[in-house]
Amino acid sequence: MFASTALGLLVFTTAFSKPTLAQTQDQAPDTPAARVLACAPCHGAQGQGTSDPYFPRLAGKPAGYLFNQLIAFRDGRRRYPPMNYLLEFQPDDSLKHMAEYFAEQRPPLPEQGVPTVSKEVLAHGETLVTQGAADRGIPACSSCHGVHFTGMDPGIPGLLGLRAKYISAQLGAWRYGTRTANAPDCMQLVAGHLTEEDVNAIAAYLSSRPAPQDPSPAKKGSYALPFACGSQPN
Ligand code: HEC
Ligand code: HEC
Repeated sequence: MFASTALGLLVFTTAFSKPTLAQTQDQAPDTPAARVLACAPCHGAQGQGTSDPYFPRLAGKPAGYLFNQLIAFRDGRRRYPPMNYLLEFQPDDSLKHMAEYFAEQRPPLPEQGVPTVSKEVLAHGETLVTQGAADRGIPACSSCHGVHFTGMDPGIPGLLGLRAKYISAQLGAWRYGTRTANAPDCMQLVAGHLTEEDVNAIAAYLSSRPAPQDPSPAKKGSYALPFACGSQPN
């Protein structure tokens, strides 16, 4: 963990700071791929993710969504110290370029996870994700994230290719208020109705879904959301 952080910071400095010395052959070329080298130890060169279950896949998520997350890390609305530190002084423009680079990548999705929970728990996860629980105020996750969970441009992320551990940590962060999005923060409203058991079941179900044929997010406005989200302009 510390080793990869140090490596990330080292490469990051080379890739992002204005060169004070004349350009030498050792310096990384200034291409979009070179500019995101600092991110590769944790997210993979194409944002495909790594074997660490807590480092999320970035590839193919809507650029608007990724940009919102980079702003949130830079401004401290989302917390993970190595990322808060890396992005601290980055101007909006450079965050936008990083978001666009990862949004365009299409590396294959990882092998689907093998659920480690019982059939009953998995079935409970499937019900919540595909139908919600109206009596408890929980909308179907697919009503916003799409029936194939590929998300929608510009602000709704796909939910495939993420490991159970990451998914439950994010839902937990919304429940406890350490992750927030633009108001109205619809994920905070949704996560607020979930119990610990719901979160585990949902994470197990989502992380064991097979890859869709086309992982690209749906076009903006291709379906109506059950209620408004601040990060998804109409
Ligand atoms: C030391 C490891 C590390 C490095 C280096 C790193 N990240 Fe991250 N990144 C993470 C972790 C862990 C998370 C999830 C944090 C959380 O929400 O708890 C994350 C989350 C993200 C997210 C949000 C993903 C989502 O689906 O919501 C984006 C976008 C992102 N990183 C982009 C970058 C970019 C761009 C760089 C390079 C400038 C970078 N990261 C460098 C570890 C890292
Ligand atoms: C009303 C629309 C809506 C509903 C319903 C909804 N989501 Fe979301 N979800 C969003 C939006 C918008 C975001 C992006 C928020 C942001 O910008 O951080 C998001 C983000 C997420 C993320 C973060 C992904 C990442 O890569 O970090 C997870 C996980 C998630 N939702 C899971 C769920 C689950 C599970 C359900 C069902 C219980 C659900 N969502 C229902 C709109 C919705």
